[in-house]
Amino acid sequence: MSAASPRKRVAALISGRGSNMLSLMAAARQADYPAEIALVFSNKPDAPGLETAKDAGIATAALFHKDFASREDFERAMQDILLAHKIDLVCLAGFMRLLTPWFVEQWTGRMINIHPAILPSYKGLHTHARALADGVKLHGATVHFVVPEMDAGAIIAQAAVPVLDGDTPETLGARVLIQEHVLYPLALKLVASGAAKIIDGKVLTGETANGETLVVPSPSLQGA
Ligand code: GAR
Repeated sequence: MSAASPRKRVAALISGRGSNMLSLMAAARQADYPAEIALVFSNKPDAPGLETAKDAGIATAALFHKDFASREDFERAMQDILLAHKIDLVCLAGFMRLLTPWFVEQWTGRMINIHPAILPSYKGLHTHARALADGVKLHGATVHFVVPEMDAGAIIAQAAVPVLDGDTPETLGARVLIQEHVLYPLALKLVASGAAKIIDGKVLTGETANGETLVVPSPSLQGA
C-alpha cells in the first residue's frame, strides 16, 4: 500500500467461534492487504473468538446485548466503541444479531456480511438443512453489503460447493465453511481497496472473464 492509501481499519463483529474472523486476520497479515483488523467486537462476552483475537494481540470489546433495555441502546453503545477505535469498515462474521435501520445507516456502503448460502436463495437461518431438503446440487456462501432488509444487500462475491449424496447439514456446512474462509478475505480486499463499486444497486468488481465452471454431478464422471 502506498502512503496515500492507508489500510482501512476494520472491526470484525462476532457472536461465536470466529473462524471467519481468523481468516480475515490471516489475510490482513499480508503487507499489501488493504485492511487491518483493528477491533474484534462481540455481543457475547464469552464468545470463543474474543480469546483468539486477544491472543493474536488484537483489540477486543464485548457488550452483552441482554444487559441493554432495547436493541437501540445496545447499538448506540456498540457504535460508540466503533467510533472510539476509528473504524472505517465493519465485517459481520457470524454476528447473530439483527441490526436496526439506524445502525445499518451509520455504515451504509461500509458494512459487509458473510452468509452461508448463495443469496438470494436461503436467506435467514438453517441454510444447509434447507438446501438439502430442496435437493439443490450447488450450495455455498455470499459476501454482501448490509442493508436494513436481512441478507438483501448488493452481492460482492459468492462461492459454490457441490452438494453430495449422503451430505448432512454438518458435512455440507463444513464444505461451505472452507470456501467462506477463502471468500471473505477476497471480498474485504475488493471493498477496502475500492475495487468493488456499487452501480445501480449491483457491485462491479472488475471481473470480466472466468473460465471455471462447477457442474454437479461432474460431467467427466458421468461420461459426458
Ligand atoms: C458462518 O458460517 C457464517 O457464514 C454464519 O455463521 C457462521 C459463523 O462461523 N453467518 C450467518 O449465519 C449469518 N446469518 P464463524 O464464527 O466460525 O465465523
